[in-house]
Amino acid sequence: MSLQYWKGIPLKKNLLIDLVASISLLLVMDPRLTGIAVHEWLSVAFASVLAVHLLLHWTWLETAVKRFIRAAGLTRFKFVLTAFFLIGFTVAMLSGFMVSESILELLGARRSANMTWREVHEISSNLTLLLVGIHVALDWGWIKNACRSVVTESGR
Ligand code: HEM
Repeated sequence: MSLQYWKGIPLKKNLLIDLVASISLLLVMDPRLTGIAVHEWLSVAFASVLAVHLLLHWTWLETAVKRFIRAAGLTRFKFVLTAFFLIGFTVAMLSGFMVSESILELLGARRSANMTWREVHEISSNLTLLLVGIHVALDWGWIKNACRSVVTESGR
């Protein structure tokens, strides 16, 4: 499937994916509520939704990379934020697998006994959530406009 496909996807679907991603992340952040097995599988599902979210906003990402040096301060900041988010998220996923109880057992492997991985997992996941919060706050204008245009379009 070409990138062009993702650029042409309707705004309604785009917003729906953002909503699914936000709800999944909030659930992923509370393993005590969902239980560890759901937490692990939901994280894997969230990674796929995140990949779709990135593809849908690929044009922005492409422009931000190309114009990084000359871009306005805010665009540059958002790009750095995205990069840190991706690093934090990757570390959260990798350390999650190191402490996994359910998925590793299914694969016939054992979780690491090293407690550092638990700490790495806790710190990286909390940092990731903080970065998502800043990301939503900075793009609140886009989110509001997109919601408004979806509501007024369907109201016609
Ligand atoms: C976006 C990715 C992820 C986020 C944001 C996340 C977030 C969290 C959070 C906030 C905790 C509670 C930490 C605490 O207060 O003790 C936790 C615990 C845990 N997570 Fe994740 N997680 C992610 C991915 C994963 C993955 C992919 C796995 C395994 C395949 C996993 C397995 C676990 C396990 C087993 C615990 C319990 C650790 C323990 O108490 O021994 N997580 N995670």
